[in-house]
Amino acid sequence: MSALSHGAECAALVQARTAIKPVIGLVLGSGLGDFADTVEGAVRIPFSELAGFPISTVSSHKGELIVGKVAGVPVAVLSGRGHFYEHGDPKVMKTPIETLAALGCKGVILTNAAGGLNPDIGPGELMLITDHINYAGTNPLIGEMGDQRFVGLTQAYDLRLQGLFKSAAAEEGIKLGSGVYMWFNGPSFETPAEIRMARILGADAVGMSTVPEVILARYYGLEVAAVSTVTNFAAGMTGNEISHLETKENGPKGAEKLKKILPRVIAAYGA
Ligand code: HPA
Repeated sequence: MSALSHGAECAALVQARTAIKPVIGLVLGSGLGDFADTVEGAVRIPFSELAGFPISTVSSHKGELIVGKVAGVPVAVLSGRGHFYEHGDPKVMKTPIETLAALGCKGVILTNAAGGLNPDIGPGELMLITDHINYAGTNPLIGEMGDQRFVGLTQAYDLRLQGLFKSAAAEEGIKLGSGVYMWFNGPSFETPAEIRMARILGADAVGMSTVPEVILARYYGLEVAAVSTVTNFAAGMTGNEISHLETKENGPKGAEKLKKILPRVIAAYGA
């Protein structure tokens, strides 16, 4: 199980192509891919050239590592991610996250699309993740050795970064909800009974990504922030069936808001 990690090797490959030393990483989820086009002085490396990076099978995900600047701050952007449901491997994002740390990033901002359970945070709105529930029954650190694997997650989501998101959203006049994200395996959507359970357990949003990346990022010592675009109310909350189409339609609404918020967060983080 303990696959050799390629993070140092990938970081060396990146460093051979650019002198930019990123201080923060970004993982772009559904609908946010074109944020990568706003990166200045971008050096783009397809995941296929990076050993251990996942090859995406999702129609709305690309698969490129982009190093450049946002708001004058050096960043490393993962445009696209691997999901557990694609590969059946909870470690699918291990090398990409390790690479961010090896490049010198101190923090990482994770974005995703999610189903909303909290009636106050509707489709097209943003939710800052303050905590999570790992309901997938697996963990990306299974098979790791040493005491480092017992990662504390009491404050997995960095409070200072959360504050930067709240300030940036307020300055832009954008509503930013906050709450608990619950990781379901996917790729099928949840049932209404599962969503009722999730609400009882304290979830505000459900989704199929991000939690393993948070765990890996904390393992590698990165500060973490994560934000969901709610693309639909979760199963059974409306009369409608859920579809990936809704993610593709409403993802861009959240993306437009994040495009305004992220440069402010990144500028403040880099200061
Ligand atoms: N469930 C799980 N993942 C999701 C959803 C959902 O309703 N919407 C977008 N990603």
